[in-house]
Amino acid sequence: MQLAVQRGAQVIATAGETYSGALRAVGADVTGYGDGMVERVRALAGGPVDLALDAAPVSNALPGLVRTVKAPEHVLTLSDFAAADELGVRASVGTDTNLRHDVLGGYAQLASEGRFSVPVARTFPLEDWRTAAELSQSGQARGKLVLRIG
Ligand SMILES: NC(=O)c1ccc[n+]([C@@H]2O[C@H](COP(=O)([O-])OP(=O)(O)OC[C@H]3O[C@@H](n4cnc5c(N)ncnc54)[C@H](OP(=O)(O)O)[C@@H]3O)[C@@H](O)[C@H]2O)c1
Repeated sequence: MQLAVQRGAQVIATAGETYSGALRAVGADVTGYGDGMVERVRALAGGPVDLALDAAPVSNALPGLVRTVKAPEHVLTLSDFAAADELGVRASVGTDTNLRHDVLGGYAQLASEGRFSVPVARTFPLEDWRTAAELSQSGQARGKLVLRIG
């Protein structure tokens, strides 16, 4: 979202209370993800949106997101791969992802300039990986979990 805003896109985030403030702070129009989401998004965009990225936990979000765009393939999900197959939505699946190592340097540069950040919730020594994994699975991490090596 931060990168899309910097490239001049209008970004509409559908979010809950947890992240609404942080998303507004980096330039998104924010609306709730519950009932009426499709109508609120289309009103904010003045019509269908060009692309939708589903970064929510698996929660049956995809049918609604498909209704915010012109065609199902304009939606990319990071989480609901079963529904993606059924609906014709694109999916970013672990090993199938074409990893773009070539863009990482650019993102690091933006970070060093204070124009891009990854929210880190907690840092663990590598030997505490099990605690980190449990926190990740709990859905309560509230940011990235970093394992420190050495
Ligand atoms: N494919 C990949 O490369 C990749 C990478 C990272 C993560 N993932 C997947 O992405 C999903 C999200 O991961 P995460 O770590 O960000 O999870 P998370 O921290 O558990 O995200 C929870 C947040 O999602 C919000 N939310 C719940 N349902 C929503 C909906 N329908 N629309 C919009 N927001 C919704 C909640 O809002 P409130 O609680 O405030 O109501 C909560 O703040 C997981 O399924 C994870 O496995 C995939």
